Amino acid sequence: MLKVQPQPVLQISGKASLTGEVQISGAKNSALVIMAGALLCSQSCYLSNVPNLVDIDRLSQVLRALGVKISKKGDNLELNCQDLSQYDAPYEIVSQLRASFFIIGPLLTRLGIARIPLPGGCAIGARPVDLHVRGLKAMGAEVFIEHGIVHAQLKGNHKKLQGARIYLDYPSVGATETLMMAATLAEGETIIENAAQEPEVVDLANFCRAMGAQIKGAGTPTIAITGVERLHAVEYTIIPDRIEAGTFLVAGAITQSEISLYPVIPEHLRAVNAKLRTMGVQIIKEDTQRLRLIPGVLKPTDIETLPYPGFPTDMQAQFMALLSVTQGNSVVTETVFENRLAHVAELNRMGANIRVKGHYALISGVSQLSGAPVMATDLRASAALVLAGLAAEGTTIMQGLHHLDRGYDDLEGKLRKLGANIQRTTLETPLF
Ligand code: UD1
Repeated sequence: MLKVQPQPVLQISGKASLTGEVQISGAKNSALVIMAGALLCSQSCYLSNVPNLVDIDRLSQVLRALGVKISKKGDNLELNCQDLSQYDAPYEIVSQLRASFFIIGPLLTRLGIARIPLPGGCAIGARPVDLHVRGLKAMGAEVFIEHGIVHAQLKGNHKKLQGARIYLDYPSVGATETLMMAATLAEGETIIENAAQEPEVVDLANFCRAMGAQIKGAGTPTIAITGVERLHAVEYTIIPDRIEAGTFLVAGAITQSEISLYPVIPEHLRAVNAKLRTMGVQIIKEDTQRLRLIPGVLKPTDIETLPYPGFPTDMQAQFMALLSVTQGNSVVTETVFENRLAHVAELNRMGANIRVKGHYALISGVSQLSGAPVMATDLRASAALVLAGLAAEGTTIMQGLHHLDRGYDDLEGKLRKLGANIQRTTLETPLF
């Protein structure tokens, strides 16, 4: 007989109200790209406020396989890239982590060659890397894809990448970061136009600057980088995670609970806070790094995901959970990723009334969700289902925790501290 593996699940009893203050961890998307950026420097990088996540552990494994020495103590990470020698990234890990593609720029810069399997990650669309590749080619790299592996190397007798003017067809976060890193040690000036303006791009630029890189304009659509000879050792603190913070704000709103969040950078949450305010929730800036949420009667609204400073695609699923219990009709339009509405079917299992048409979701708010067995389909979908479970009548059992663990640092522990009734347990028999 086929032996069934016990399934880890989250068991959430809904309808508890939350109270107190939640501690927000360092930003996943900053920490990942900054770890890749550490490859640019042949000395030690000391990072603090690194979140405790499976994605961080996976990237650490990739970097170790390249010869990087890494030591971790709590939320501090020391990376020493002096002995960087390998340019072949291991498929088994890269295939599970899209962010491992970030190492292509620094590897090319340091070793003149990189071989990276095409990345995996969340199943939220095609997620090509053409913009990264086109930019690196403009900087003088030879790049081709063979047997699922991206091969990149310096052309001819060149010892370095060459500065270039690059216009991105779309303000891709990853492509902006890849090209910015590659340009820090290139010969001459690189201008990236139509660059992504996300706070994580700015965090990476600040990290590189702290190592001695010359970067201007990060956080605007035009970034100018003048290559320098080398970068030096650095101590750097990762910014707070605006998506984790946004997820907790929705947790407060959906459970009608007053909670506060610390530390946060309120400007990074402008689009999310504006939507919550439109929906009838009060967000109070208590001090420079602390927000307090006061719930209110929820009103429907329309949301369209956009590159920063627009509404983040990484908060779309969580807001869908909130809108599903908001009386009235709302429309959510996903414009960033083509395949990011898989959570709708699971929310409907819990009694939501959502129809999908192309990249639109039409939501008719219901007065009550009911707990059900559900399956997380990607990282942010898993957060949305937890939020729905907190608001639902009865018990929700969520499978697919590997998605949640990729990107949330102890979500259930933090929710429990606020008073939620949520436990991690194992099921002997799978629910589906
Ligand atoms: C990053 C974030 C992810 C977030 C996303 C958008 C990390 C590790 N992940 O992902 O959490 O949801 O930004 O804010 O930082 N595209 C191309 N060609 C390319 C690159 C991207 O067509 O070469 C497209 C993608 O398919 C997608 C859109 O551009 O439709 C946005 O992608 P991008 O901004 O690059 O997102 P990521 O860097 O993958």
